[in-house]
Amino acid sequence: MMRRCALVLAIILLVSPLVLHSQIPGYGTEIDRRVDELISRMTLEEKIGQLQQYTYGVSPELQQMARTGAIGSFLNVRGAAQTNALQKLAVENSRLGIPILFGLDVIHGYKTIFPIPLAEAASWDPDLAEQAAAVAAREARAAGIHWTFAPMVDIARDARWGRIAEGAGEDPFLGSRMAVARVRGFQGGNLAAPDRVAACLKHYVGYGAAEGGRDYNTTEISEQTLRNIYLPPFRAGVKAGAATLMSAFNDLNGVPASANPFTLDHILRGEWGFDGFVVSDWNSIGELIPHGVAADCAEAALKSLTAGVEMDMESRCFNQSLSRLIEEGILPLGTLDEAVRRVLRIKYLLGLFEKPYTDPKLEKEVMLARPHLELARLMARESMVLLKNDGNLLPLARKGITVAVIGPLIDSRADLLGTWRCEGDPAQVVSILQGIRTALGDGAAILTAHGCDVTGTKGESIPSAVAAAQKADVVIAVVGEDASMSGEAASRARFGLPGMQEELLRALKGTNKPIVAVLLAGRPLEIPWAADNIPAILMAWHGGTQAGAAIADVLFGDYSPSGRLPVSWPRSAGQLPLYYNFKNTGRPTTDQKFTSRYLDIASTPQFPFGYGLSYTRFEYANLQLDRKEIGPGGQLKVTVEVRNTGEKPGDEVVQLYIRDLVGSITRPVRELKGFQRIHLEPGQARTVHFSLGSDELGFFNARNEYVVEPGEFHLWVGPNSAEGVQGKFTVR
Ligand code: GLC
Repeated sequence: MMRRCALVLAIILLVSPLVLHSQIPGYGTEIDRRVDELISRMTLEEKIGQLQQYTYGVSPELQQMARTGAIGSFLNVRGAAQTNALQKLAVENSRLGIPILFGLDVIHGYKTIFPIPLAEAASWDPDLAEQAAAVAAREARAAGIHWTFAPMVDIARDARWGRIAEGAGEDPFLGSRMAVARVRGFQGGNLAAPDRVAACLKHYVGYGAAEGGRDYNTTEISEQTLRNIYLPPFRAGVKAGAATLMSAFNDLNGVPASANPFTLDHILRGEWGFDGFVVSDWNSIGELIPHGVAADCAEAALKSLTAGVEMDMESRCFNQSLSRLIEEGILPLGTLDEAVRRVLRIKYLLGLFEKPYTDPKLEKEVMLARPHLELARLMARESMVLLKNDGNLLPLARKGITVAVIGPLIDSRADLLGTWRCEGDPAQVVSILQGIRTALGDGAAILTAHGCDVTGTKGESIPSAVAAAQKADVVIAVVGEDASMSGEAASRARFGLPGMQEELLRALKGTNKPIVAVLLAGRPLEIPWAADNIPAILMAWHGGTQAGAAIADVLFGDYSPSGRLPVSWPRSAGQLPLYYNFKNTGRPTTDQKFTSRYLDIASTPQFPFGYGLSYTRFEYANLQLDRKEIGPGGQLKVTVEVRNTGEKPGDEVVQLYIRDLVGSITRPVRELKGFQRIHLEPGQARTVHFSLGSDELGFFNARNEYVVEPGEFHLWVGPNSAEGVQGKFTVR
């Protein structure tokens, strides 16, 4: 036992403290010299002004605030004309001419809208996600936006929570890779570039663990789970140089995230060395009062600012209280100055003092540029997950068949943009019906029917849909959620097909025609009947401006589906929270009574994390480890051969999982620690390489120290979290 403790201690020293120094592009001492010089000339009111963020609506009061330097940032201003006009008031009229920072929710595109972030995560293609974020940045900056409130990196294990749509799913490893990709895409290597914006990691932290999946609800998260599951994507984003974070609404273990010194200061600054700034979520400072930790605005402002929130989005508590708090000696001036320093630092790094205005000509040039639309179509293609394809019903033939396209969303455009559609224009969206018509060409025999509404409870149109199906050779049923049913304040206690849509599917099934169900949603849906009875099911999420074209590409075989689930797909809301990296318990699930199980449904997901089918088949063989044993801090090389044994080309997402069999605390039965997306032609094989070291094998233990503990590990390399070729190794 002594040897083991000594070894663990040795490893603790090796790998901690995990102090990071944030890598904000361009930051250095010259910036701070300029900032400190400016602060030395600022009045108290001008300093407090820099910490205000208000939403913009044309108003003389807000324009006067811009003119007098009483506002540091506006959100929800859009377009070169409006941003330039407001900027001019600040730069050319206020005493010090400090430029305004314009922020906006550019969550998955500005004008060219990409698939919702959960769909982008389903591509398991961080490089493509980075390119998509770069396009969003290019369009947003040209429109005068300097700062996006993205990426949202909240881990989500509960499909009832509508904001699962906005993140990268349930896994910290995939979530971290997508966070880094999107920070890099938004920011690039130079925040002052005319096609980049500052990123904002949100919502810091634990927001996705809302009890009951009910938005804004309480979260109780142990420090180990916080450090092992919820913090990693934020830490990765900070390490990648994210300029800002947004503090969350939720009460985190009794201390609301927007006034939580442990997360905002001890971890974010103390451990990670973050030197950007934190903006509160909308009025989350004012909400400290209903949370019951502040009696009034002054107390809320004091708690939040001293905890580590530098900018107040829309509560106006900073504006109402900071001056008096300083004058009464309650808030140290140094704390205020440090907050102002952090905000001005980002404004300098964004080049706003040198170039405060955007070029209206550029705005016209970049919006919806052809390369942007092509990238949006590619991401939509890669994001789709083929859940079922019995009898290889897909891909469909293009010629000689009559197709019935049925469902309430077949010609919707706005819904394909999904939640947080920013400046996305439905008129620019390719609907699914339009995509199918284009793919099949003129003269194609296409019958259409809505069959029912998205949420309506009337089924009087179902018979006409059935009649259309009876005349067709194949039915494409487009069903699911509209855009308003996911995102913020959109939790669903029951998340099956809304309205009469399942009744529509059942009626169509009654025609005995082959049916392909195309699901549109911002979350996995409870579809146990469809999963058993519909032969082909394609999860298309809300796929953005080019969704209809991309869906047709997959349906008719121009693209072999390659998306993989970034979340475990529940059979029932009763299973939630549901995630693949669960603990084994003392009574692991079996079909025996006295084990961890349900009487009425299987405990496994409908479809596992990492799952997705293709139009071809892949085989895994020849798993090799370069050694059976590694020391602390050692590296293990893993290789596997993957072959395309089908008749069509396809992309495979090769996934590597580990299991630490015995630890000082209980360890997950699986943990994703590597993935690679590869393309293989029919018959082609590729050797895929992974490496495992302390970054992958370690975890935060009961004392919240990052450790790699000795012992036996199992590993799997395969197509999802439930399958794979298995190996094992030992850490000495
Ligand atoms: C909202 C959201 C946040 C968003 C902000 C500004 O309430 O929680 O994600 O960035 O307000 O719109």
